[in-house]
Amino acid sequence: MTNKLRVGILGATGMVGQRFIQLLENHPQFEITALAASDRSQGKTYAEACTWRLGGDMPDSVCSMVVKSPVPPLDCELVFSSLPGDIARETEGAFARAGYSVISNSSAFRMDDDVPLLIPEVNHDHLKLIERQKTRYPSGGFIVTNPNCSTIMLALALAPLHASFRVESVVATTLQALSGAGYPGVASLDILDNVLPFIGGEEEKIETETKKILGQLVDTHIETAPMVVSAQVHRVNVTDGHMAAVRVKLAHKASIEQLKESFESFRSLPQELKLYSAPDFPIEVRSEVDRPQPKLDRDRGKGMTITIGRLLPDSVLDYRFVALSHNTIRGAAGAAILNAELLLAQGLLADSR
Ligand SMILES: NC(=O)c1ccc[n+]([C@@H]2O[C@H](COP(=O)([O-])OP(=O)(O)OC[C@H]3O[C@@H](n4cnc5c(N)ncnc54)[C@H](OP(=O)(O)O)[C@@H]3O)[C@@H](O)[C@H]2O)c1
Repeated sequence: MTNKLRVGILGATGMVGQRFIQLLENHPQFEITALAASDRSQGKTYAEACTWRLGGDMPDSVCSMVVKSPVPPLDCELVFSSLPGDIARETEGAFARAGYSVISNSSAFRMDDDVPLLIPEVNHDHLKLIERQKTRYPSGGFIVTNPNCSTIMLALALAPLHASFRVESVVATTLQALSGAGYPGVASLDILDNVLPFIGGEEEKIETETKKILGQLVDTHIETAPMVVSAQVHRVNVTDGHMAAVRVKLAHKASIEQLKESFESFRSLPQELKLYSAPDFPIEVRSEVDRPQPKLDRDRGKGMTITIGRLLPDSVLDYRFVALSHNTIRGAAGAAILNAELLLAQGLLADSR
C-alpha cells in the first residue's frame, strides 16, 4: 500500500499516453492504477496492446495491467486524458460527472468559460474557475486542461514580456515535430523531403488559446488578453520538439537586455512550491547564432524548459525570437502532470467520489 494518488490514463497506448507512463514511473505523488484506450486495445495487457515508441523499456509496473474501456468507473481517483479531441468531450465529461478530477490534453473543453486552460507558471489564478464547475458537476468532479502543444510554448514565452511590457501583437510561425501528430501520424511519403504547411485547427487554437491563457481573471470569469495573435503552422521532418519563429510588438518601450532579463528571471509558483516536475528555469535564453535546435535543446529541464534564441530587434514589429519546446513533455504529458502537482499542492485533488 502506498499513499500516492491513484491515477488512470485515457489514451494510454498513444504517443502522449506513453509519455505519461514514462514520466509517472517513480513519481513521488502519483501511481498508475488504470489504463484505457480504444476497443482495439481493450481486454489486452498493456504489453500486448501497446508498441512502445519511446527510448528505454516499457515500465514493468504497467506491462501486465489490462487495458480498459475509457468509461467510469475506473480504479483511480484522477484521470489524465490523452484521447483524440472528437471523443474527449463525451468521455471526459462522463468522468467529471462521475466525480473524477480530469486533467486533459485534448482540445475538447479548453475554451469553455468555466474550464482553466492552465500553465502553472503563467495563470495559476485561473484555477478559481473550477468553483464554477460545481453547477455542471455536482458530484465534485471537474476538468482542467492544458493548452495545445505550440500554444504552451508561445504563451510561456510571452508571459514575462506581457507582464513587463504588455504585448500588443504577436506573429508566430511554427515548425512542428512529427510526434505532435500522434502515432502513426503523417505518412512517411508525405513528410520525407517535404514540409506540410497545414495542420488542421492548429492556427485557430494558437490564436484563441493564447489570449485566454494571458487573460485576466475578473471575479469568476476570464477577460481575454487584448492582443492580436497571428499564427501559421508547418509540419516538419523532426521527431520531437516544436519551434516557433515569433515577432512581437510591445506597448511599452524596452531594450533587448530588458527582454533577455525578463525571460531569464522568469520564475513562478511551481518553482516557489518546488513542484516535482517544475524546472528550475522555465525559460532559457541562448546567445549562439544557431540555437535553439530541436536535437540539442528539446530535453532541457527534462523537457520542461523552453529555449529561446535569435533574440533580435525586428524591422516590422519590435522584436523577434525563436522558441523551442518538447511537444510531448512540456507540450503535453509533462504539462498535465505539472498541472496535477499544482492542484495537489493547492488541496484541490481530494478524492471526491
Ligand atoms: N502528440 C502531441 O504532441 C500532443 C500534444 C498536445 C496534445 N495532444 C493531444 O493529445 C491527444 C492524444 O494525442 P496522441 O498524439 O497521443 O495521439 P495517438 O498517438 O493517436 O493516441 C491516441 C490514443 O487514444 C486512443 N483512442 C483512439 N480512439 C479512441 C476511441 N474511439 N476510444 C478510446 N480510445 C481511443 C488510442 O487507443 P488505441 O491505441 O487503442 O487505438 C490511443 O491510446 C490528442 O487529443 C492530441 O490532440 C497531443
